[in-house]
Amino acid sequence: MTENAGVPPSSDVPESFLQMAIQWFPGHMHTTRKAIAERLPDIDVVIELLDARLPGSSANSLLAEMTQGKPALKVLNKQDLADPELTDAWLAHYRAQPGTRAIGLDASVAGPAKALVAECRALVPKRGGMVKPVRVLICGIPNVGKSTLVNTLNGQRAAKTGDEPGITKMEQKIVLASDFYLFDTPGMLWPRILIEEGGYNLAASGAIGRNAYDEELVAMALLSRVRHRYADRITARYRTADFTAMTDEELLAEVGRKRGGLMPGGRVNMQKAAEIALNDFRSGAWGRVTLETPDEFAAWWATGMAAEAQRLEKKSADRKKR
Ligand code: G4P
Repeated sequence: MTENAGVPPSSDVPESFLQMAIQWFPGHMHTTRKAIAERLPDIDVVIELLDARLPGSSANSLLAEMTQGKPALKVLNKQDLADPELTDAWLAHYRAQPGTRAIGLDASVAGPAKALVAECRALVPKRGGMVKPVRVLICGIPNVGKSTLVNTLNGQRAAKTGDEPGITKMEQKIVLASDFYLFDTPGMLWPRILIEEGGYNLAASGAIGRNAYDEELVAMALLSRVRHRYADRITARYRTADFTAMTDEELLAEVGRKRGGLMPGGRVNMQKAAEIALNDFRSGAWGRVTLETPDEFAAWWATGMAAEAQRLEKKSADRKKR
């Protein structure tokens, strides 16, 4: 990580573009919410799988509301792709919350069951044994790596993994020990994008179906997010000596120019450039990158909540007028 931790808000992607940039389709949210709500009374611990590159934006506010007060294990998954220093900061952030433990994980970690079982048992020390088995629910947004983890836990490729969100459909029960049951749930998003930066980060991570957002706008927002904190990586990847004076759009064009996005005649195919930038981020070609710090996310959250409160107030005032 470079010194500059203060990522300014995206200069080239005004707020009003958000609705244009991302079509928010929460998919099977209602069915999943119902299934989780029905299961919850019998659940001792809720594991939430988070994307370690966006541990705030990938946290489900709807799930937080539903599971308030339940012991929680936050698993920062895909830690192999995330900035280790910021993963530590996020782990400390979650560990400071009451009734919450947090660990980092990725698909290369051998025997994840052992760690998950130990963390959950520590959260509910009074449970255990055949009479009071530990019952755990595992949740997460689409594409966070839940099927991969569940397959590993199952010791088989029971569910198909893939990069299109929403493949995990069926709930399944996995017996991790004779007194430890894990209930899997389908990937779930929430009703509305409340946090602008979070929406962009989710789209960049691959959590939102690829036809549901404008790749150029999302790629520009992504570059805006990383260009300061990871300036050296951008320079190395795209052989760009100094891009500080470039706008996000110009930087995206530079990505296309340097990585195979040039059209005959020398113009840059911006759509292709966006795909290159997004793929480079998702595949780890920039190295280990995290898009947000706990402090940044807290500030975005406060702004998002204030805007949401205003929206609800206006809605209620409009209703009264009718
Ligand atoms: P989901 O059930 O939460 O929707 O996610 P899934 O397991 O299908 O994983 C989504 C993508 O993330 C898959 O890649 C998977 O391989 C990858 N993935 C899962 N865990 C990790 C991890 O810890 N680290 C990294 N780097 N990647 C991870 P894919 O290319 O879309 O599919 P595939 O070719 O691997 O099948």
